[in-house]
Amino acid sequence: MKAVRLSNPASLDNLAVVDIDKPSPQAGQILVKARASSLNFHDYLVVTGGLPVDDGRIPMSDVAGEVVEVGAGVREFTVGDTVIGTFFPTWLSGEPTLAQTWGCIPGDSMDGYAAEFVCGAETSFTHAPAGYTMEEAATLPCAAVTAWRALFAEGELRPGETVLVQGTGGVSIFALQLAKAAGATVIATSSSDEKLDRVKAMGADHLINYKTTPEWGKAAAALCPRGGVDHIIEVGGPGTMTQSIAAARVGGHISLIGVLTGMAGEIPTAAMMMHQLKVKGITVGTREHQQQLVRALDNTGIKPVIDSSFGLDEIADAFRHQASQKHFGKICLSY
Ligand SMILES: NC(=O)c1ccc[n+]([C@@H]2O[C@H](COP(=O)([O-])OP(=O)(O)OC[C@H]3O[C@@H](n4cnc5c(N)ncnc54)[C@H](OP(=O)(O)O)[C@@H]3O)[C@@H](O)[C@H]2O)c1
Repeated sequence: MKAVRLSNPASLDNLAVVDIDKPSPQAGQILVKARASSLNFHDYLVVTGGLPVDDGRIPMSDVAGEVVEVGAGVREFTVGDTVIGTFFPTWLSGEPTLAQTWGCIPGDSMDGYAAEFVCGAETSFTHAPAGYTMEEAATLPCAAVTAWRALFAEGELRPGETVLVQGTGGVSIFALQLAKAAGATVIATSSSDEKLDRVKAMGADHLINYKTTPEWGKAAAALCPRGGVDHIIEVGGPGTMTQSIAAARVGGHISLIGVLTGMAGEIPTAAMMMHQLKVKGITVGTREHQQQLVRALDNTGIKPVIDSSFGLDEIADAFRHQASQKHFGKICLSY
């Protein structure tokens, strides 16, 4: 079967389609004909050397496909089901342990899903939402589960509250869609006025161009009846955190998710304290969060926004497109 391998030193030029043996399912496992994956910033870091991985790693943490074989004792799935992988194959529910969230991420610390067939414990997959295409389903395990956990599991978002989403990448567009479906007011930021027009059409209530309004935190707070934003989807990291703190209401909640501006930086801790903020670092979520998300998508009819799609042998071009930041929503691989 065809798979993509990344050889060291990691770079987009060192991604190659190779032939490898097809896996076969053991007891408790399912064999999936992978049909699509989607790009996350995390995958980009892997394939460009930002996160060191073993030589020959198969990249990609997202997958959607069809079950083609089940091992002995499999209960939840049957041949023909459409399934999606989970970001943390062994973190099923409850509080995380290091063993469940470190050293076991597909496409990073273990082989991922850029392959024609993938095999794993049935508990490392969930059903996909009904009626989703394979590409739509493949967008969910990393970006959408993160947005779901940030807003509902951690934020306990209520109708009428305000959510701020940063930029128009995968996590932020899902957060916008989920927050609007839950009756929230959404403030969306972007570097592009054209992209702001698109989020407006999707229901964003307030728009801020973070390039032309560098003090966007103050501008966002001024839009809120409670003096600041209730929930912030913080995907920028050190370069945006100061503005997020300025945007938040007293007692507000910041979901610390992303590293788009770097891995470390200076944070005004006194301002965080004075705003009595709840800041929670999160990495994706559990299988149970994914199942909750799938139920919510079944009920709301939300469909992922897919920017573009590439073949498995075009994976480097897909990542080049992601690096250009011209995309809006998710970039997919289809195979
Ligand atoms: N902790 C977790 O569980 C978790 C899960 C998923 C993702 N993440 C992280 O979250 C971040 C976003 O991931 P993603 O997959 O959604 O990325 P993505 O799809 O590649 O998003 C890129 C978009 O982010 C926006 N952006 C870039 N720099 C920005 C800045 N300084 N301020 C505001 N927006 C900015 C841009 O939107 P515009 O073009 O509109 O400006 C850009 O198009 C990444 O750092 C990723 O590693 C973390």
